Amino acid sequence: MEQQEQFDAVLAADERIEPRDWMPEKYRATLIRQIAQHAHSEIIGMQPEGAWLTKAPSLRRKAILLAKVQDEAGHGMYLYSAAETLGVDRSDLLDRLHTGAQKYSTIFNYPTLEWADVGVIGWLVDGAAIVNQVPLCRCSYGPYARAMIRICKEESFHQRQGFEMLLALRDGTDGQRAMLQDAVNRWWWPSLMMFGPPDGASANSSASMAWKIKRHSNDDLRQRFVDMTVPQADVLGVRLPDNDLRWNAERNSHDFGEIDWEEFARVVKGDGPCNTERIERRTAAHTEGEWVREAATAYARKQAAKVGAA
Ligand SMILES: [Fe+2]
Ligand SMILES: [Fe+2]
Repeated sequence: MEQQEQFDAVLAADERIEPRDWMPEKYRATLIRQIAQHAHSEIIGMQPEGAWLTKAPSLRRKAILLAKVQDEAGHGMYLYSAAETLGVDRSDLLDRLHTGAQKYSTIFNYPTLEWADVGVIGWLVDGAAIVNQVPLCRCSYGPYARAMIRICKEESFHQRQGFEMLLALRDGTDGQRAMLQDAVNRWWWPSLMMFGPPDGASANSSASMAWKIKRHSNDDLRQRFVDMTVPQADVLGVRLPDNDLRWNAERNSHDFGEIDWEEFARVVKGDGPCNTERIERRTAAHTEGEWVREAATAYARKQAAKVGAA
């Protein structure tokens, strides 16, 4: 019981739990699931935008997009490392991703049909990710919290590059403005789903709040995102596709329409537009990369032997 008291005291003082500290098994399991799912989302998230690397309209846009997609790979790496401090193996986590035992964010199962989608992903998807992730910089588990600080800095570059690209489309031709509006129509609702099920239906939320892994409820974060995004949509001259969206002076917030939770459940279960494609691509990349992992392991062993000999 002494250990539990120590753990509770660290949380109460808003300090961090570190890898060697005692922690309840459920806390450990919750973190492994959440960090793994987060890591999987980062690397699967490379695919929808990666598809546009060879089709970017200018060298400048290509260089920016390449940097962003590489950042997402890096986020995956920090997060797999953070998960490993909890005693799991990265290759096991990847197996769980490939077999569908662990999930990634539903947002990455939607297709990128037009170039404007790349900008809208930066604006809305990275924007939603920031709202979700900034509070995680104060998460009670040290390695996760520290990984999030760097990740959030990079996500804000992602959000800005998206918005800046959309400003160029806004100032472009009628066709470009139509392409922008079409992308917003398709990405708006899936972006709102990124905050997860409504508070009443969220299975893991209350324990995560008590453990200070999560700091705000799904619905609070979603509301914050809507309130932040509406004025940005005005600047871009786009309409957010929701007839119920309006300012509520009493609540000092925007009201908005009902999310299609059936669609969300379908995509979570694997039946979104691109689920199969995403996992096939990921598994193929993993298989094709096997020789790289073997070579890196052999090199590390050789270096260690050299140090041992000297
Ligand atoms: Fe990321
Ligand atoms: Fe990002």
